Formats: sequence, C-alpha cells, structure tokens
Amino acid sequence: MEEKRAQWKTRFGFIMAAAGSAVGLGNIWRFPYLVGKHGGGAFVLLYLVLLALLGLPLLKTELFLGRKTGKNAVGTFKKLAPGTAWQGIGWMGIASGFLVLSYYSVISGWSLSYFVKSINGSYMGADTEILFNSYTATTIEPIAWHLIFMILTTVIIGFGVVKGIEKISKILMPAIFVIILILIFRSLTLPGGMEGLKFYLAFDFSKLGGEAFLDALGQVFFTLSLGMGTMITYGSYMKKDEDITKSSLQIILSDTVIAILAGFAIFPAVFSFGLEPSSGPGLTFVTLPAVFSAMDGIGRLFGALFFLLLGIAALTSAVSMLEVVVAYFIDEKKWSRMKATVTTGIIIALVGIPASLGFGILSKLTFFGKNIQESYDFLATNILLVLGSLLTAIFIGWKSWNKNTLKEINLGAGKLKSTRFFEFDIKFIAPILISIVFLHAIGLF
Ligand code: PHE
Repeated sequence: MEEKRAQWKTRFGFIMAAAGSAVGLGNIWRFPYLVGKHGGGAFVLLYLVLLALLGLPLLKTELFLGRKTGKNAVGTFKKLAPGTAWQGIGWMGIASGFLVLSYYSVISGWSLSYFVKSINGSYMGADTEILFNSYTATTIEPIAWHLIFMILTTVIIGFGVVKGIEKISKILMPAIFVIILILIFRSLTLPGGMEGLKFYLAFDFSKLGGEAFLDALGQVFFTLSLGMGTMITYGSYMKKDEDITKSSLQIILSDTVIAILAGFAIFPAVFSFGLEPSSGPGLTFVTLPAVFSAMDGIGRLFGALFFLLLGIAALTSAVSMLEVVVAYFIDEKKWSRMKATVTTGIIIALVGIPASLGFGILSKLTFFGKNIQESYDFLATNILLVLGSLLTAIFIGWKSWNKNTLKEINLGAGKLKSTRFFEFDIKFIAPILISIVFLHAIGLF
C-alpha cells in the first residue's frame, strides 16, 4: 500500500521553497565575484544564455521526474527503470546531499558568527583578513556555529514539508528580497558608489575565455540546485497538474534577480571605500567587513543585515539538501521523519567537523593541494553534481523518452508549452555541454 505523501499546500509556497533552495551562498558571494572576474555584463549575458539552454531544461526535467513518480531521488529512478543501474544517479544525489550540506553548513556557520560580530562591532577597525584567517583557524567557535546551523536546518526538516520547509520559505524569501533592497539603497547612495556599478556592469568581452565559460556552466548547476535530486524531491511534492515550465521560469527568475541584485548591493560599497574587490570567500568575509567597518556607526547595522541575509539564504538551501537525504530514508527505508531527520542530521554535522578543522589544526591534511573543505567542495560540486546532471539528461533524453513524454511534461501547462526544441536540447545540447564541463573537471580537457 502506498503511504500518504506530503504535498505543497499552495503554489506560492512551492515556488518560495524551490527558489529558497536555489538562492543561497552561490548567489550572494559566488555570482557577484564571478561577474567581476569575467568581464561584468558580458559574463552576465553568457550566464543567461547557458541558464536558458541548460538550466531551464534540467530544472524542468528534475521537477518532471519528481512530479511523475512522487518519489525521492533514488525511488524515482527505481520506479522508472526498475532493476537497472540508473538508480545510481539517485544514490549519487544522496551522497552529494550528505557531502555538500556538511561543508555548506560550515560556511553558513561563519555567516551566523559574522552576524553576531557585526552587532558587537568586533571587526570594526581590525585587519579583516587577519581576523578572518584566525577565526576560521580556531577549533571550537566555528564548529559551534556549524552545529547551531545544522540544528536549525534539522528542526525545520523535522517539521516536515508543509509546516517546515514551505512555511519558513514563505517568510524568509520575501525577507531576503527586502533586506537586499535596503542594502542596495545604502550601497548606491554612498559617495563614489557609481564607480562600483561601472565595474560591475562594464561589457568587457575580452575577458570571456574558456574559464569564464566553465565557471558560468558550473554556476548554473550549483545555483539552481541541480544534479543531486533536490528538484526531483521538491517536484515529488507537486500536484500532478502543476505547470512545470511556468514554475521553472519563476524559480529561475527569482534566483537570477537575487544574484544580480547581490552585485548591486556589494560593488558600489566596495568601490566607495576604495577597496579592491577580492575573489571567493574573501569578498564576503574580508572585503565586506572592511566596508562595514569604514561606514562608522551604521556599519554595524548594515553588516548585521548583510550576514543575516547570507544566513537566511543559506538556511533555505540547506534544508533542501537535507530533505533529499531524509526523503530517501522515509520513502525507501520506511523510517519516521523524526528518525530520518535526527539520524542524518547528526551524521552530516559530524562529517562537517573535519571540514571546519581543515582551516585550522587539520590544515596540513590536503588532497591535491586542497584543504578538507575544498576537497569536499571539489568532489561534490565539480564531479558529483555535474555527473548527476549529465546522467539525468541522458536518462530522460535517451532511456525513458517516448512519444508521450512531451505530452506528460505539458500536463497542466498554460500558454508556455515544451516543444520539440526541449527534446533536442535535452538529447543533444545539454549532454554535450555538460560533458565538456565534466571532462574539464577531471582534468581531461
Ligand atoms: N543553490 C544553492 C546555492 O546557490 C546551493 C545548492 C546546491 C542547494 C545543491 C541545494 C542543492 O547556494
């Protein structure tokens, strides 16, 4: 007998939850820095093209697979291709969920800690780079924040799909939007802020090389939470006649708007205080604290708002990663939600501890020059997620495609329907483009 499965209560709630998964650390620290690194507006254009060619069809595919089967990542492939190795895609997804969440939570913990540091004003006037390096190298404090973040994530998932994920997303996603608008207003009205806008929006096509292409592709998967079964799992809670194309476009639009807006909040402020926009985690945890520090009194408020924003965005993404894992244990192993949530939450929290220590007492432990956190990130984001997306595209395009597939995808569709172009895209364009990224990631290209 089929057990009764959760379903999103409202369409708005579903979109907020899925957008909540998409909008995360990837939007707020990674996207703006990539834009700055690769030629501003030119990179944004490239990114948008790849989003349309790759992000959209894969997001639609994942939501469709989940909606069709009503199952978790492993169960979906089991149901559609019983007894075959295709369920390995689902297994990889579960493994990625474990791995990504364990280190994502460590970085999210830094945000929580910097939120408190902003309120206390403890980085004001300090050398923010020295401060960041010594903070992340500390043993106890970052682990404590990582555990607090994991507890928050676990509690939300413990409340379930509707009362946990949907409810919290409906509150937090609009909050993200409001906070970002406040920050943009402050940033743009700073003297010299326009210089930052010029840097952010310059169209410099000369910087668009192969690396920009690969960075843009990787960003498309990561930012839309693709390749690890997140959107399959969220799709499994959709109503059977929920419009897939429209939902996907709404999710992508929210995600893209927040990513682009994050740059409007960050760059004008950085330039206004004459700082160099640095790359990677440094932009968020080194440059921005220096900016807030230079803002005098109000810097504490804006710093607190920024790190709150980062923490909230990370939280709604973290819950979606945990849900992938928890849904598997509930569906396939018949565990109660409570048991699944607590058990997997504890294991993931423990796996995250070495990632945190890799910045301090375990920093000597490196794999190919990467510390533990960077190694987890490389294995998950560059290998597992990309491979997951590649295999998902091949699965739908070549293994399970039949003459009814388009009709099935279009179930519940309004004006925007999937056409033969979608078929061509998922069968040819997507696998070829993703293979290029994958071969590059494993060093063969
Ligand atoms: N999309 C999230 C971000 O941009 C990260 C994420 C990846 C979430 C994979 C879920 C699954 O930060």
